[in-house]
Amino acid sequence: VSREVALPTGFTMPSVGLGVYRSAPGQETYAAVLGALRLGYRHIDTAQVYGNEADVGRAVRDSGVPREEVFVTTKVWRDAFGFEHALASVRSSLARSGLAYLDCALLHCPGADPGRREGAWRGLEAAQAQGLVRTIGVSNFSPAHIAKLNRTAAVKPAVNQVEVHPWLQRRELVAACRAEGIVVQAYSPLGKAARLSDPPLAAVAQRLGVSPAQVLVRWSLQKGLVPLPKSVHPDRQASNLDVFSFSLSPEDVAALDGLEEGLVTGWDPVAHDPV
Ligand code: A2P
Repeated sequence: VSREVALPTGFTMPSVGLGVYRSAPGQETYAAVLGALRLGYRHIDTAQVYGNEADVGRAVRDSGVPREEVFVTTKVWRDAFGFEHALASVRSSLARSGLAYLDCALLHCPGADPGRREGAWRGLEAAQAQGLVRTIGVSNFSPAHIAKLNRTAAVKPAVNQVEVHPWLQRRELVAACRAEGIVVQAYSPLGKAARLSDPPLAAVAQRLGVSPAQVLVRWSLQKGLVPLPKSVHPDRQASNLDVFSFSLSPEDVAALDGLEEGLVTGWDPVAHDPV
């Protein structure tokens, strides 16, 4: 398990990031991101549809952390699919956040219209060519969505961000991405805190003397994923990042793997958006 993950673009991505989905726009997100940067987070994951890009950008700018040291991702919402729209929407994300470039931009979901999806991908390719964004990828894409995109893409997606945790492991999807060299980011790595007291998880946490949330972040890392735990509380943010001084044994991992139940805590476009 390492602290940085290499990307096909030659850049690196810190292996644990802060999620800000459902961090309220305004002071809550600003304080969460500023606090996280002070605690040592160097990777922030936002999206146009979260409505908090401006707060993320302002916190990054105000933090005093050199811009080069922070990895900022945003996502293009499906309303902005199509070439011109997607490219313009990356420019608006930059304008809102007050950042000169984004480290990563993702298509937020496949969307219902494969033609506009393909156009949006060309928009991200153009944004990358213009230096607006360093690395481009997708989110909530199935292997079939990726295979279809790759038929027309000049640049292949470097990242696929999907919901993954022990209750929803998406083993085939993760293996398919790995085979293509695509980095898989795990959103809701804590399963939205819905199952933190599940006995097998609690037992592992107790044995290691860490919290269930720490076990989940560590499980994600040991699976080769890039977890993006969300919290607006400094104590939780700190412990969610404090996952490099213990490790899960093969038995611990097996116990957690046994929790699989296909639990989708979010919305599942992989299941609904046409290929
Ligand atoms: P909060 O932001 O109030 O801390 P996920 O990343 O899987 O989507 O989970 C996010 C949810 O888990 C949020 O409700 C967050 O609440 C909560 N959470 C984050 N970190 C912890 C933690 N260490 N212990 C308990 N709950 C947590």
